[in-house]
Amino acid sequence: MNKDFLCLTDWKREELEAIFELARDLKAKQKCGEEHHLLKGKTLGMIFEKSSTRTRVSFEVGMFQLGGHALFLSSGNTQMGRGEPIKDTARCMARYVDGVMIRTFSQEAVEEFAACCEVPVVNGLTDLYHPCQVMADLFTVSEHRVDWRELSYCWIGDGNNMAHSWINAAAVFGFELRVATPQGYQPDAGVRARAEERGARILYTDDPREAARGAQVLNTDVWASMGQEAEQKEREKAFQGYQINSDLLKIAAADSLVMHCLPAHRGEEITDEVIEGPQSIIFDEAENRLHVQKAILATLMK
Ligand code: CP
Ligand code: NVA
Repeated sequence: MNKDFLCLTDWKREELEAIFELARDLKAKQKCGEEHHLLKGKTLGMIFEKSSTRTRVSFEVGMFQLGGHALFLSSGNTQMGRGEPIKDTARCMARYVDGVMIRTFSQEAVEEFAACCEVPVVNGLTDLYHPCQVMADLFTVSEHRVDWRELSYCWIGDGNNMAHSWINAAAVFGFELRVATPQGYQPDAGVRARAEERGARILYTDDPREAARGAQVLNTDVWASMGQEAEQKEREKAFQGYQINSDLLKIAAADSLVMHCLPAHRGEEITDEVIEGPQSIIFDEAENRLHVQKAILATLMK
């Protein structure tokens, strides 16, 4: 088994499915108030170089529910923010804590951190991937649809960290994925090539309707991710038409599910009506960050 959870494709399908099973068990225990202190006395260090609501709260609460403790470290208030080498921080952190979660910009930085850190490291989002989110997303679909591995999924919008994580998920689990992005905002060529090598069934298009037609799960994310705030206006123009709205839902499967990792820009990539509508499983996704990450932490840190 891997020491770290940095990217979905580092893990085998069976290992990820075992995480889902543990998440199901932990969620049931949490719901009925049964103690599940799998990480009693353990500490998770959480390094944030970008903002967060769900990731911070779900990891911190998750550690508490597992009988452990979490430490919030904002990079602005640590020596990392003043340029201390990643390898020095990583080596010191491993002397204090039993695991580290990092949210930062570059995937290479997380990989370097993990390579220098003797304890497990979890990727809490980089510019390239958001593996904990896609795990929570798939777990959520599995709660709503037993045949989740056979469904047809689509991605509408930016070829960003979430799109890449869905591409990786399609490569690992083998489901069909259609990705619609505007020209110039396609997913990373390396991520695409690695998925292709694994035989992933993915169609890339610039037509949102082609991606959504008959799809059973529709997914989107903000047009400008964290760090791209200055591009907001230019992106708003480029992404016109790449919105999940009631018109697009009409051409998807009649019982399709709608997902969004949040935070959302209501009225841009998705309408208010769809977020609040009966097909939305968006807030279940948000909740499941907690249960799935507890399973990831317990798997790595036990
Ligand atoms: N979806 C997600 O990671 O949310 P936060 O940015 O609030 O952590
Ligand atoms: N793509 C978004 C996801 C936020 C959870 C971002 O990176 O800002």
